[in-house]
Amino acid sequence: MSLTNFRALGRSGLVVSPLALGTMTFGPGGWNADEAASREIFDAYRDAGGNFVDTADIYSGGASEELVGRFIRETGSRDDIVLATKFGFNASSSPLTGVACGGGNPHAGGAGSKNIHRALDASLTRLGTDHVDIYWMHIWDGVTPVEEIVQTLGDLVRAGKIRHYAFSDMPAWVAMKASTIASERRVPGPIAMQVEYSLVAREVEAEHFPAARDGGMGVMPWSPLAGGFLTGKYDRENTADTGRLSGANPFGDSKFTDRNWAILDTLREVAAECDCEPAQAALAWAMARPGVASTLVGARTVDQLKGNIAAASISLSDDQMSRLNNVSASTPGFTSSLASPMIRRMLYGGHEITAWGE
Ligand SMILES: NC(=O)c1ccc[n+]([C@@H]2O[C@H](COP(=O)([O-])OP(=O)(O)OC[C@H]3O[C@@H](n4cnc5c(N)ncnc54)[C@H](OP(=O)(O)O)[C@@H]3O)[C@@H](O)[C@H]2O)c1
Repeated sequence: MSLTNFRALGRSGLVVSPLALGTMTFGPGGWNADEAASREIFDAYRDAGGNFVDTADIYSGGASEELVGRFIRETGSRDDIVLATKFGFNASSSPLTGVACGGGNPHAGGAGSKNIHRALDASLTRLGTDHVDIYWMHIWDGVTPVEEIVQTLGDLVRAGKIRHYAFSDMPAWVAMKASTIASERRVPGPIAMQVEYSLVAREVEAEHFPAARDGGMGVMPWSPLAGGFLTGKYDRENTADTGRLSGANPFGDSKFTDRNWAILDTLREVAAECDCEPAQAALAWAMARPGVASTLVGARTVDQLKGNIAAASISLSDDQMSRLNNVSASTPGFTSSLASPMIRRMLYGGHEITAWGE
């Protein structure tokens, strides 16, 4: 596989690379890449044939969008690139923008129509373009009715300011409800889901993956290397690499658990068998999972990115996939047991029935 093994993103005509370039590291910030390093990363991704670039209004307080827009203009690549950005986090007051929470404008965040229009206009200005190809709801706000979100984003598709929209970080039922409303009303619906997914974070397989399959949404994993943990650069005895996990983790959780070290042990074994880096084996695993359309790679340096892109040419054997699947399996939740082979045999007179799409 290579980055030019394009595939449709969800039930849509938008064709994307199997690895998408995440640009959360672009711009000023503690564990980020400066402009020169960001340009090198962007160029290396393009040179490898990649066409899918993902940013957000919140990354580096808008600087990531500005850099991505500049690189696209410099390379004259707007028509080639599938450009995605996101709205949702508050632009006036949020710990993520470095501005303390409190006293901010409530209409500068969330998924209400008023904020979506404001956020998109600001993103288009920073990106220097008149449309984005995918507009992501970055995070569910728990407040705005799904009907309002579908109406607003569908109207923006019709207005030509966005080509498609998609959801990130939401309960599966929210994406499914949006998809159902859209198909019943014959209006544009979400085409993809962006969720945390890696060997150490597989909870979304229970509800999100089946919803994505049923709703025609491609799954796009973020943090497929668990923020650097699955590169193998940290170990049990020494977690003090200079990478982002050694400082305060902005995502709030620690990757350094006994379960995760055990997963890393198996990953290291598999990587050694393939004569590749653990990061490449971890990405190859994510890319090979059913339902995954395009996997987001993040990098702070161009060398990291080049190593990660090489994962596209690695394919794991069935035995290697199943060892990784077994060591990283999540505790089954209530709904997982409902579709188990045993229950299906009980329902279908002892026969093994394969459902459509399995
Ligand atoms: N929708 C969302 O809520 C959401 C959330 C998070 C991310 N994202 C998107 O997903 C993209 C990827 O997320 P992520 O950055 O968390 O992904 P990740 O692949 O799990 O982690 C990337 C980080 O790991 C380290 N790294 C990467 N490759 C390496 C290598 N070959 N060797 C050693 N270290 C390496 C680098 O950090 P250090 O060098 O500092 O260790 C790099 O910044 C982001 O850019 C963003 O577009 C979306």
